[in-house]
Amino acid sequence: MIPLDRLEKWSARLDECSRQFLNEMEYQEYQSIPDPSKLRQLKAILEKPIARFSSVNEAFFRAKWADVLSAVHPGKRLTLLEVASGDADMIPQTMARARPHSRYITANMNRILTERLREKTKDLPLEIVVIEEDAAKIEHYLPAESVDIIAFQHGVNDVIQAILCDQEGVDTVYSDWMDTLPKMIKILQREVSQNTLEQHAKPAFLSLLERLSRVLKTGGVMVMSHYMFQLDLDWGYPPRLWEDLLPIAREWVKELPGCKEVFFEGFEPHWWIFFQKVQDAERE
Ligand SMILES: C[S@@+](CC[C@H](N)C(=O)[O-])C[C@H]1O[C@@H](n2cnc3c(N)ncnc32)[C@H](O)[C@@H]1O
Repeated sequence: MIPLDRLEKWSARLDECSRQFLNEMEYQEYQSIPDPSKLRQLKAILEKPIARFSSVNEAFFRAKWADVLSAVHPGKRLTLLEVASGDADMIPQTMARARPHSRYITANMNRILTERLREKTKDLPLEIVVIEEDAAKIEHYLPAESVDIIAFQHGVNDVIQAILCDQEGVDTVYSDWMDTLPKMIKILQREVSQNTLEQHAKPAFLSLLERLSRVLKTGGVMVMSHYMFQLDLDWGYPPRLWEDLLPIAREWVKELPGCKEVFFEGFEPHWWIFFQKVQDAERE
């Protein structure tokens, strides 16, 4: 696979990042890992589907999101809307440390995961707004042009899976997401083998992005990140789709009016997409 990032760069930064982005308990865990093992874990995170979770993962991913904020919105304060966060607290953990006077908003449908996210983030020194709703309805909650960044932290797959489930009458709001995952994977296997994914998922995906872009400020950026989990592969997630999700999504997103793709140094385009909202005249 194409590595998520450069090993030399991150092996040099990891200690400093762990001091900056881990809490006391996490940092103790990090310090208890022997250096060669830390390096092996880091190499595996960057070069293989993710198969284990430790303070090394947290330090890397939080620091990477801090790099996103610096690249996309260097100002001190920002409003960031995350779509499909589930219970993943990577971005609020980052913002609490790197941009504490900012506002983090998430639109997340699944009730169980939303509850867990609330619990995980309740003590963070950051303004956090949790919207338990389909991000397609974001305009009912946020004013137009009010958000600096819209983030899909490993969320493009989740949004597509929820779209397909909705079409098939499979509940993703009140159910346990992991219990539903095997059904989602079956649907994806069928979509891939019948070559119907684009036909079934693209219109709703683009409609969601179009609605989201209304609350994004002109000049603001939609950021999409992806990486692979080994578990999904083990459970039969179509491997090409799992690996090439963003190159596939990129072709769809190109059709979104009023946005253009921008690139930042240090972000591998296979695993990162940045789409900026522009005035119509600026479109290429
Ligand atoms: C497994 S969690 C995602 C975790 C996180 N993105 C990650 O991978 O680290 C999937 C979440 O995406 C949410 N989701 C999917 N489509 C959504 C949409 N259109 N609006 C809001 N939430 C959505 C689900 O409700 C669920 O809470």
